[in-house]
Amino acid sequence: MRWPAPISPRRSPLLLFGLLVALYTTPGAFSLRLVTLDTIEIFATHEWFVKPTVVFRCNGENKTYLPDVKEADTLYTFKGEESWQPLTELPENKCKRCGLFEEDVFKDDVFDEWEMCSSDFKDGKYTRFKENQFNATFLCPNCTASTGDHGNREPSSELETKKASIAVIIIVSVLASVLVIIALFVGYKYWQKKKRERDQARFLKLFEEGDDLEDELGLSNEL
Ligand SMILES: *[C@@H]1O[C@H](CO)[C@@H](O)[C@H](O)[C@H]1NC(C)=O
Ligand SMILES: *[C@@H]1O[C@H](CO)[C@@H](O)[C@H](O)[C@H]1NC(C)=O
Repeated sequence: MRWPAPISPRRSPLLLFGLLVALYTTPGAFSLRLVTLDTIEIFATHEWFVKPTVVFRCNGENKTYLPDVKEADTLYTFKGEESWQPLTELPENKCKRCGLFEEDVFKDDVFDEWEMCSSDFKDGKYTRFKENQFNATFLCPNCTASTGDHGNREPSSELETKKASIAVIIIVSVLASVLVIIALFVGYKYWQKKKRERDQARFLKLFEEGDDLEDELGLSNEL
């Protein structure tokens, strides 16, 4: 028996499109690793007479001015929504060389310069401390390393990846079931049609045989 193709060409682009939409809307599948400044305290300034201008910069990127940070030995806390946030975005498996500087007309003074990596974030938090210079905490909820999920913190990316893959598995199984159901339905309809045709053919044959019989009967009547 010849089976019809399970999906008609008209239907398959729609299914593909649906799968893509499902992938793109899966939470966490494409989340950005945005780094924000949580707290900062500077212990010294390099300027003697004017208020310092503190900037954060990663190699090859623009400077981010921290306009509020003016006094030494004062803890500044941020909400992460300030106009100059986020500071930067981290790639998945690569570090960025970033630093804190004090802007100077001639050459910026360096508080510290280091490799910032997603794997340094524990529970989405990373503290950078340099003696006599500064103590800063950075947040990156989607960065990889995690030691568990604590209540109000956003879920770590590891957890999110797991959730995303489970979502993909569910979507794929649902799509597969739908395909199987469509295939079965099409197959059943096809079988029904064939059966009807076969029945019709048998009926017609019977009818013709009946005609022959009638002819014979007619012939015998005439006699
Ligand atoms: C850096 O700043 C320049 C000028 O303000 C802007 O045109 C450019 O898009 C910025 N680049 C990034 C990566 O933000
Ligand atoms: C740095 O700042 C964080 C947050 O304010 C604090 O928990 C930590 O103890 C500080 N570390 C040092 C060495 O001062």
